[in-house]
Amino acid sequence: ERAIQVGLLGLGTVGTGVVSIVERHQNELAHQAGRPVAIKKALVKQIDKVRGSEVNGVELTTNPEDILDDPDLDVVIEVMGGVNETKQLLEKAIRQKKHIVTANKDLMAEWGASLLALAAEQGVDVYYEASVAGGIPILRTITEGLSADRITKMMGIVNGTTNYILTKMSQENRSYEDVLKEAQELGFAEADPTADVEGLDAARKMAILATLGFSAPVQLSDVAVKGITNVSGKDLHFCEQLGLTMKLIGVAKRDEGRLEVCVEPTLLPSDHPLASVQNEYNAVFVHGEAVGETMFYGPGAGSLPTATAVVSDLVSVMKNMRHRVNGYAAMKPLYEAVFKEEQE
Ligand code: NDP
Ligand code: HSE
Repeated sequence: ERAIQVGLLGLGTVGTGVVSIVERHQNELAHQAGRPVAIKKALVKQIDKVRGSEVNGVELTTNPEDILDDPDLDVVIEVMGGVNETKQLLEKAIRQKKHIVTANKDLMAEWGASLLALAAEQGVDVYYEASVAGGIPILRTITEGLSADRITKMMGIVNGTTNYILTKMSQENRSYEDVLKEAQELGFAEADPTADVEGLDAARKMAILATLGFSAPVQLSDVAVKGITNVSGKDLHFCEQLGLTMKLIGVAKRDEGRLEVCVEPTLLPSDHPLASVQNEYNAVFVHGEAVGETMFYGPGAGSLPTATAVVSDLVSVMKNMRHRVNGYAAMKPLYEAVFKEEQE
């Protein structure tokens, strides 16, 4: 039977992980999709760059049309980053009736509602689990696992790079610059790490979480943001002596209809569960009126953890194709927000 064919936009840290997982877990994926899946080609910036042997079987191109206009491709996975150019590429892919999976929080925080509306109009899926908290399936959790409840608060660590920096500065007495460089080498940081250290990456993730958790459109500009660029090793050691641990914490809460979303360095008692979340790991508390307090923990960045979320989205798309259903309903709040705005 014909394989489900996938095109990648980007073949860096996350894209390479996607190719590895599709290769290694082919049997499990094919079992769920009802047919094999193949990564056919990938858009890259530098065609001659040295890449790992795991991507040897993927055809490379620097021309996006090679992917967007390929009638054999069923799914486009976007793992290249960026906003404006990337939005145009995905709009074109959606108009070509290709299902989309993306790990791009910058794009989804800003343009998610409009991409989802276009996808609904064209009858294709858009999934973006990897955009928040890497390997933790937090978007499915709040849109499906807790869909019976009314979420009142979400709070946690949603940026791996800054948690890595704070952990290493405090436990290994290393400098901010030295640890940031290491986080970049390990593939945790954004192409421009300013978004990580100034709290914007976490703010975009909190905007996505709040939009889905509270069924209300929350923009980046609605989030009060403070990053970790002014935090020194001395500050961290002083806090430790007082039995406190500093973490970059995002909070989204609903109080009598009012929404508040913020990201800021926060001092926690050292025995608080979030204080023990180390390195690139993330954790999110979700409070529901009926369920009470739940906590989700796991790797928030990195090649294979993030790729797990991406490929799980691919599985959802493939299952939808198999059963001929459109999966946009999982992201319904964003979709409804668009139509509400259009009607007003
Ligand atoms: P990388 O920088 O490692 O990879 C980006 C890839 O996209 C590279 O293959 C690059 O080509 C290609 N690319 C970038 N710009 C262009 C362009 N204009 N035209 C063609 N190709 C382009 O990024 P990551 O894999 O780390 O991240 C990808 C996305 O996933 C981002 O949106 C990021 O925010 C998100 N993400 C990342 C996580 C992580 O842990 N790294 C975790 C969760 C989400 P080339 O290889 O030739 O340079
Ligand atoms: N730069 C991001 C982080 C990648 O460090 O959390 C995962 O979204």
